[in-house]
Amino acid sequence: MTRPLASVPLADAAPRRNGAIGPNGVIGIVGGGQLGRMSALAAARLGYRCHILTPEPDSPAAQVCDGITLGDYEDPQAICDFAARVDVITFEFENVSAEGLDLLAALKPVRPAPAVLRISQDRIAEKSFLNGAGVPTAPWRPVETLAELQAAAAELGLPAILKTSRLGYDGKGQALLRSPADLAAAFEALSPKPLILEGFVDFACEISVLVARGTDGTTVPFDTVENSHRDHILDLTYAPARIPDATAEASQAMARRVAEGLDLVGLLAVEMFVAADGRVLANEIAPRPHNSGHWTIDACPASQFEQHIRAVAGLPLLPAVRHSDAVMKNLVGPEETALWPQIVATPGLIPHLYGKAEARPGRKMGHVTRLFPRGALPGPFAVAAALGPLAPTPED
Ligand SMILES: Nc1ncnc2c1ncn2[C@@H]1O[C@H](COP(=O)(O)OP(=O)(O)O)[C@@H](O)[C@H]1O
Ligand SMILES: [Mg+2]
Repeated sequence: MTRPLASVPLADAAPRRNGAIGPNGVIGIVGGGQLGRMSALAAARLGYRCHILTPEPDSPAAQVCDGITLGDYEDPQAICDFAARVDVITFEFENVSAEGLDLLAALKPVRPAPAVLRISQDRIAEKSFLNGAGVPTAPWRPVETLAELQAAAAELGLPAILKTSRLGYDGKGQALLRSPADLAAAFEALSPKPLILEGFVDFACEISVLVARGTDGTTVPFDTVENSHRDHILDLTYAPARIPDATAEASQAMARRVAEGLDLVGLLAVEMFVAADGRVLANEIAPRPHNSGHWTIDACPASQFEQHIRAVAGLPLLPAVRHSDAVMKNLVGPEETALWPQIVATPGLIPHLYGKAEARPGRKMGHVTRLFPRGALPGPFAVAAALGPLAPTPED
């Protein structure tokens, strides 16, 4: 005898098929920042609840989620409490210790897998993996001692960039070495060790590809985009990148190769350089939604966040269709955030604010997307004008 449909709880009506999480399932997100916030919003639209692990009581993600576990990423009790409340675990914060990752993975499925995070946490492991998978990068050397740095600089030549292998972001933990006299001070200043020395890439532009990969191995890259930075922080993303078709194809193939080489389940960004000679070199990978994919919320039927949640929940991925061209402008620090009243009053600007209480210098507070008909992304001057109150001033 069949029960009348009205009396069937939704969890029964939609059982897990092929291991997929059904409606009202709980997705655990490690980290409470804006990437978690926008992931939780996408998850809510698909009927999921998100539970956040964060040490901050008032985090951007906590404001829009179903529940939070307030605790440190390294606290075993907090990790166990968090895992007990969720069906599957993902990340918006990558720098969880090996012990924390192992504990999480022992308790619930973790997507992407801890092995993927471990590679992305360490520039030496990352570049070793990339080169081993046949993905070219800038030439690089691991550096433990000043003598090793001197030898590496002699081999790679100057200028070169010295970076910490762990915990760097937004250009932090890096030093540009122009002359042999710079080596000792930069070596002393950067920690933790080991460091990595990279040959300087005289790039024509910086691009990135967001690629999702589902539990069934389907791999779906978004269109390649072009990124420009200010003070080492992403400022503008142009979708699509203004690069030759062959370059775009090379970058897409590279992103697929990375996702498949890592056996990824989830979403991953590959940051790349287009060298002056047209070669595409991988710079770094981030196994999570990425700032250079925020344009997809407004320009694609399924955003990077939705594809991420689909992959993590075991749902099918959708084609990464771009229905519009787009420019994304970050709102960084107090100056740009002060323009909010003008931004929300400007037709055509699609505003996103992350709910952070304080606009500190260099802090990403929100972003704005401007759409253009597909194929009609204008040149830099018209893009600047289209950003209205956010148009760069001449001295920029
Ligand atoms: N080898 C390199 N050659 C030239 N520029 C580089 C190189 N490595 C990094 N950069 C510049 O510094 C920025 C930040 O470096 P990145 O390795 O992406 O670190 P993170 O984003 O973690 O701070 C890059 O987007 C690029 O503009
Ligand atoms: Mg980077």
